[in-house]
Amino acid sequence: MQDLKKLWKVFNQKFRDTGLIKGAFSAPGRVNLIGEHTDYNEGFVLPMAIEKKIIMLGQLRNDRLVQVFDLGYKAEVKFSLDSLSPSKKESWANYLMGVANEIQKAGYPLQGVNLIFISNIPKGAGLSSSAALEVVTALTLAKLNLLEIKPVEMAHLCRRAENDFVGVDCGIMDQYVSRLGQKGNALLIDCRTNNYKLISFEDSNYQIVICNSKIQRGLVGSEYNIRRRECKRATDFFTHRLGSKIRALRDVTIEEFKRYEEYLPETIARRARHVISENYRVQTGVQALKEGNFSAFGQLMIESHQSLKNDYQVSCTELDLLVDLALEQEGVLGARMTGAGFGGCTVNLLRREYVDVFKKTIKRGYKKITGIIPDVYVTHPAEGAKVIELRQGSKVGNNG
Ligand code: GLA
Repeated sequence: MQDLKKLWKVFNQKFRDTGLIKGAFSAPGRVNLIGEHTDYNEGFVLPMAIEKKIIMLGQLRNDRLVQVFDLGYKAEVKFSLDSLSPSKKESWANYLMGVANEIQKAGYPLQGVNLIFISNIPKGAGLSSSAALEVVTALTLAKLNLLEIKPVEMAHLCRRAENDFVGVDCGIMDQYVSRLGQKGNALLIDCRTNNYKLISFEDSNYQIVICNSKIQRGLVGSEYNIRRRECKRATDFFTHRLGSKIRALRDVTIEEFKRYEEYLPETIARRARHVISENYRVQTGVQALKEGNFSAFGQLMIESHQSLKNDYQVSCTELDLLVDLALEQEGVLGARMTGAGFGGCTVNLLRREYVDVFKKTIKRGYKKITGIIPDVYVTHPAEGAKVIELRQGSKVGNNG
């Protein structure tokens, strides 16, 4: 990643100094350890922020224009804060426009800004590069406009931006952990109450390793929204049978599911079984981690993958292959697909001393069968979005 001095140099070449407040901000990608497709069912998830991130530099303008330069893709876009609507042509700009739109809709006044950003989170790999872009944009806009937006509220604004401007009906997990992640910890998020608990993940004997299948998540938007609707059907069924105490699949116990499963259409039963059992795996997994029982946690990761593959049906051949290759290796405690699915990455839990061998072997094995060399990232739980620096301007903006 480029250093800040160089980034400011690019910024100054791109934009005239407005004399107003400026700053540098960052937001990380994430990997989910366990709890997949549970967030929009008001359940539990256990993600951690990763070291890959987006850095954004910005300066306030004295008008209503937003000018953005994506340094990685050398792409530029301009839009006015007065006419925000999703763009078909510049779809990447929807993440930024959506966030500006949601901030204004929530009643916060915004002025225009000049922005540049650079990312080392692989795109379309299931590591939440889009959530990171939303979160870093929200933080930049908030800080430059001197707005106090609480972290959880910011995560929700960003999720709504993705729902309305990008058209993916995602849950809260990605934006939440990108905003609130903490170094050395995974976050156990209760997606109903929006509270979280820190789960320490700094055991020196174990390591999280991510494998990127390099299969882009083509179907993700459409299939994701279909899964959401299937979950809604299952919820409606259980509310009808068990009463209003069932507000989401989170409220259905495994026993209740077993009692009624035969009355559900097969596909809907599979979806419900995954969500209900996955919530249970998150709870059990957290307990295992607290007790330092990494083998038990790894086993739950393996079960989670089976459930995502067979019941939720969001895996793909390449992800299954990466998991199978990982589990053949010594020192691997658990492996599963992570994120929405249909491509993207797997997350693996390893004994630290096996990491180097693992990297070599999995690259070789995957390439032999698919012809693709996977990327492998060794990562530690990183901190969430933050202000890197903030410099007051020589002039005062409209809102200052
Ligand atoms: C995507 C969504 C999240 C979550 C995961 C699946 O990453 O953005 O909200 O639903 O898929 O767990």
